[in-house]
Amino acid sequence: MTDKTKQDRVVIFDTTLRDGEQSPGATMTHEEKLEIAEMLDEMGVDIIEAGFPIASEGDFEAVTAIAEQAQNAVICGLARAQIKDIDRCWEAVKHAKRPRIHTFIGTSPLHRAIPNLNMDEMAERIHDTVTHARNLCDNVQWSPMDATRTEHDYLCRVVEIAIKAGATTINIPDTVGYTAPRESADLIRMLVEKVPGADEVTFATHCHNDLGMATANALAAVEAGARQIECTINGLGERAGNTALEEVVMALKVRNDIMPYRTGIDTTKIMNISRRVAAVSGFPVQFNKAIVGKNAFAHESGIHQDGMLKNAETFEIMRPEDIGLAATNLVMGKHSGRAALRAKLKDLGYDLADNQLNDVFVRFKALADRKKEVYDDDLIALMTDSASEAAGDQLQVKFLRVICGTEAPQSADLILTIDGVDHQVTAQGDGPVDATFNAIKKLFPHDARLALFQVHAVTEGTDAQATVSVRLEEDGKIVTGQSSDTDTVVASAKAYVSALNNLIWRRAKTKPEDELKSVS
Ligand code: KIV
Ligand code: ZN
Repeated sequence: MTDKTKQDRVVIFDTTLRDGEQSPGATMTHEEKLEIAEMLDEMGVDIIEAGFPIASEGDFEAVTAIAEQAQNAVICGLARAQIKDIDRCWEAVKHAKRPRIHTFIGTSPLHRAIPNLNMDEMAERIHDTVTHARNLCDNVQWSPMDATRTEHDYLCRVVEIAIKAGATTINIPDTVGYTAPRESADLIRMLVEKVPGADEVTFATHCHNDLGMATANALAAVEAGARQIECTINGLGERAGNTALEEVVMALKVRNDIMPYRTGIDTTKIMNISRRVAAVSGFPVQFNKAIVGKNAFAHESGIHQDGMLKNAETFEIMRPEDIGLAATNLVMGKHSGRAALRAKLKDLGYDLADNQLNDVFVRFKALADRKKEVYDDDLIALMTDSASEAAGDQLQVKFLRVICGTEAPQSADLILTIDGVDHQVTAQGDGPVDATFNAIKKLFPHDARLALFQVHAVTEGTDAQATVSVRLEEDGKIVTGQSSDTDTVVASAKAYVSALNNLIWRRAKTKPEDELKSVS
């Protein structure tokens, strides 16, 4: 057994909030970004890439707030190879205890053609921008975007320039997920061996998953000398996504015998953050996803179940507890008491104060009355139901009845409480959800665009709860709402109204006037 403290440390750089959030449709709200950043910091991520400050006012504000809040992690912002980008990035990250500027430019022939720079002009731009960044911040990362399709001689030349200009980390992105493990390793090895000054910087690997090889490519790069892995929770990211944090971290843990590197990640926090990222991004995790998929630890076939009962190691290479999955899926029901609920929620990663427990207990009892067996996933849905924070909300669904079936049009009869006053309306639509949304919109007219409507069953069975996520966009600002109920239309109505409450709150934050005057 090797002494782990003597093993080389691989730094985990999480870019869920930048490259992950860049994925079309994965937009998160300001508050959600702060929450995810806090979870990343607590789980031991070394560097959090919090956003792209010049991209929008919202990104700038989020990076600034995350920089102010972070306790341990380095907070990094992205900047193109332009002075104005780098200055804006610094304005946001400088609030962190440990800031980093990450600047990049596309160096492959295809990418060089876009700013129309020849090789010498681009080299000069790299020198000037990295020098500028280093004059602002002593922690500078530089990336040659599309490095895996850049001519090797030119890549060596620009990496050397960036190191001489003061970059402390050199990241080698496989921007389009084109490389393969052996090539990924060879590229890092070549840079480490050939580039003067390479021994003074950390090499990073940043892989996209277009050919499904991102994790393998990242690990191969580590074996060749990279000591920083760039990754996202659940592999969130554009197209087929990025290297998944949970995959590389667990691979290094489980196969430490052949990959003797350590990370600083508390792996028991993986499951919780995976669920939260799935919920706030609106990107559910595929059932058979490695490590965090619903089936990753499920053993259904007879042979597997028999083996598992005799010795779990027959079919399990890691324990569910290692990633923070409760060891059992103990079913709760209407006779379960407060203490059992508290213990169960603690297993699931929720440590509640007494008043929070009281509130959840009431909702748990209501659910258990309607649903015989309450599973872990039902409880998680209960905990992530944004519609349940109803106390201070201005809009609340009081009553809903829909008429649906084969005869169109479907209709919804709704009572919405607006600022304590009940308003009733009936509306028709193309299906019960459409009719319900039309009814809500009649009572609370708005121009926000429905950017996402997503439904998924929390558990199996026809009495399963449906979790509904709704995302609205107004003037470039995004708000979300999520709710779960055994009645899909009720969950939809509550999720929509929760998103509207968040919209009202957001408007009030940007414009102090009373926005509710639009209510009829
Ligand atoms: O994939 C990529 O090349 C990137 C860079 C900005 C590092 O995300
Ligand atoms: Zn990327």
